[in-house]
Amino acid sequence: ASFLRILGIETSCDETAASVVARHEDGRGEILSDVVLSQLDEHSAYGGVVPEIAARAHVEALDGLVEEALRRADVSLDEIDAIAATSGPGLIGGLIVGLMTAKAIARASGKPLLAINHLEGHALTARMTDGLSFPYLMLLVSGGHTQLVLVRGVGEYERWGTTIDDALGEAFDKTAKLLGLPYPGGPAVEKAAQSGDPERFSFPRPMVGEARLDFSFSGLKTAVRQAATEIAPLSEQDVADICASFQRAVSRTLRDRIGRGLQRFKQEFAHLDIDRALVVAGGVAANQEIRRTLQALCIEHGFRFIAPPLRLCTDNAAMIAWAGLERLAEEFPADDLNVAPRSRW
Ligand code: KG4
Ligand code: ZN
Repeated sequence: ASFLRILGIETSCDETAASVVARHEDGRGEILSDVVLSQLDEHSAYGGVVPEIAARAHVEALDGLVEEALRRADVSLDEIDAIAATSGPGLIGGLIVGLMTAKAIARASGKPLLAINHLEGHALTARMTDGLSFPYLMLLVSGGHTQLVLVRGVGEYERWGTTIDDALGEAFDKTAKLLGLPYPGGPAVEKAAQSGDPERFSFPRPMVGEARLDFSFSGLKTAVRQAATEIAPLSEQDVADICASFQRAVSRTLRDRIGRGLQRFKQEFAHLDIDRALVVAGGVAANQEIRRTLQALCIEHGFRFIAPPLRLCTDNAAMIAWAGLERLAEEFPADDLNVAPRSRW
């Protein structure tokens, strides 16, 4: 394939983002610009993302961000080969804003439109950052998703495990809220855990030992609530101990679940001489204890552990642009301008 450049747009949750990414002839990806506007301030007072506020904020910010992305990349719309936008899954209001904007640009410029699945963006990022080849495993742990996915190729994904209730980031956020810590909860819980005793409480390790690769985190949250109620009022040390014990339970659970996933990968691809790799994505991948756990697990099982830079692990538009480039390079057809956003996909 030749040298390609794509404009990417991401609006599926509470980040408004636009980016221009290039794909060189040798397949290498290069981020020419990557602008992200987080709506954290708009939502923090509510302790979570408010869909209506998110949709309005996307409307206000997106046009300016697209212009900024093109300006920083120093390219005009004429020089862009296609427009890629997240068309699901996510909050419908935001998806409509992003996809409609992309359609308008595609229509006005005569360039092809690529409607991208947000999860495909997360799944393919490591090919841009690390030149990873197929197949590999990806663990996506964010506020909305907890999935272990086998990435076989562009457009070929097999979900090996998912959560049957809360997403992992959601469990961190709910635990934080329960303990009176600020939103988003992940960083707050991690910080408090640093001065806590991870052995003080033995919280449940949901699904550990089960053959299927799914996750469950709502029981853990309930156990945290019980412990907190029993010993209330909570001292700062109590909060730290609960956070440390919660994080320990999460790490042990991931160890078991992902360990089984790596084992299954080894069995499935035993006949192939490949460089085995586990990629993490999503905001929870910022957690140092979780990273250490996964890294150690990968060493034990002979896998490369790949954690793209945090900025590319969390929601961004470069991953959407890159997914579009991968599709173009594989000569997938462009999407029709009538394509509809899909909240669930
Ligand atoms: O990928 P992400 O930025 O986007 C959404 O899912 O929208 O993930 C955000 C999630 C939140 O639930 C947040 O609490 C969690 O990632 N998170 C963390 C940490 N940093 C962010 N969880 C655990 N430890 C962290 N250090
Ligand atoms: Zn995401």
